[in-house]
Amino acid sequence: MRPSTHSYTQSLVSSLIAEHGEARAEEIVRGWVANEPILIDSDTEILKSLAAGRGDVAITNHYYLGRLLEEDSAFPVQLFWANQADRGAHVNVSGAGVTANAPNRENAIALIEWLSGDGQEMFAGTNHEFPANPAAPVHPIIAEFGEYSADPLAKEELGRLQSQAVELMNRVGYQ
Ligand SMILES: [Fe+2]
Repeated sequence: MRPSTHSYTQSLVSSLIAEHGEARAEEIVRGWVANEPILIDSDTEILKSLAAGRGDVAITNHYYLGRLLEEDSAFPVQLFWANQADRGAHVNVSGAGVTANAPNRENAIALIEWLSGDGQEMFAGTNHEFPANPAAPVHPIIAEFGEYSADPLAKEELGRLQSQAVELMNRVGYQ
């Protein structure tokens, strides 16, 4: 698992609170702690550790596995989409914004518009994320991961619940 300081862990625990309420989310995270997970601050290193036999199962974002499979098609880790019988897989997003004091506001907006439009295929094809723009094709290695159902939770909720998630992890001793 990633440590509690990692934003991916924080958003995952936030999603548990949103779905199950704080008490049940705490039980789940206590269960993780009871399993004494190896905490590694990098999805790529988590997957490499798994491949090296340091564990049986791990939680990472899919595109890190896609990158490792691109380097080595025999990389010995298989993807499993979580929560397919209920709320759907937890989803992180890559987002962009323009700060209020940005000196090159128009160019910044032009870049973001390009990234989400014509540049989306290059962006998603390079980092192996699923494109947010449905018109952009999915990278072939990622397409092999198959269809999945995604948690429809609004991303704003992940931000709103983040500090609660951090407090919960501190309370149960998740490092
Ligand atoms: Fe990432």
